[in-house]
Amino acid sequence: MTRLDRVEQTRDPLTGPPLTPRTAVIWSVLRAELDRRAGTRLTVLDVGGGTGGFAVPLAQAGHQVTVVDASPDALAALTRRAAEAGVADRIRAVQGDGDALAGLVEPGSVDLVLCHAVLEVVDDPAPVVAALVAALRPGGAASVLVAGRAAAVLARATNGHLDVAAALAADPDGTAGPRDTLRRRFDVEGATALVRSAGAVVEEIHGVRVLADLLPAAVADGQPAALVELERALAGRSPYRDLAAALHVFARRPA
Ligand SMILES: C[S@@+](CC[C@H](N)C(=O)[O-])C[C@H]1O[C@@H](n2cnc3c(N)ncnc32)[C@H](O)[C@@H]1O
Repeated sequence: MTRLDRVEQTRDPLTGPPLTPRTAVIWSVLRAELDRRAGTRLTVLDVGGGTGGFAVPLAQAGHQVTVVDASPDALAALTRRAAEAGVADRIRAVQGDGDALAGLVEPGSVDLVLCHAVLEVVDDPAPVVAALVAALRPGGAASVLVAGRAAAVLARATNGHLDVAAALAADPDGTAGPRDTLRRRFDVEGATALVRSAGAVVEEIHGVRVLADLLPAAVADGQPAALVELERALAGRSPYRDLAAALHVFARRPA
């Protein structure tokens, strides 16, 4: 990295967007990586980054972010949001498919790749994960968030849909059939194996929204800070982690 690559003004992303049960644990993990690389302007790729919930704070923290997303509408919203936040020059919005990254982003050029809530909707997650890892420089890190199967089974059952819960639990992909909005859900072992199969080393795995979706709105809305703290406390601990609505895998391409 040259001096020009140094971040001129570092802003803690945790002081940017409000932390929610959906984002707090992920930001804690990302924050540790940003701290590890403190003073360096990172090249970040957010695959399926949507409207920029992570991309914009990362750009505000001084990093250069490319968002690849299949949806032109999402990218238009991202572009507006980046402009409003004053970071349009640090965000590149690219319409494209997650498994065709090689044609959109130079392989081996990225310090940090994000792929949140995407692998459960693509045709085949394996080529997307392979493309994510190929985009990383040696030593670069991947933040992958996938839908959890166990939470979905429990949610269907507690809502009284025992047949759907049974189908979800039995289906090899963790779906409840053709009307399911997701094409697959993961358990810790499956998510870890998917990322490892692309050649990355899994360093951490956390549960995201262990409790948030289970609580009455009055509790979640009434005690937001306490809920975020509890989510953080439980995120890395089995069995709580394994029952979370989503699983966050943090992995690294070997140096
Ligand atoms: C559920 S949203 C998640 C957005 C964001 N990552 C987040 O966590 O808030 C899924 C995003 O993935 C995008 N997407 C779906 N399939 C994709 C694909 N094959 N390649 C790239 N983006 C895709 C969608 O357009 C959408 O913006």
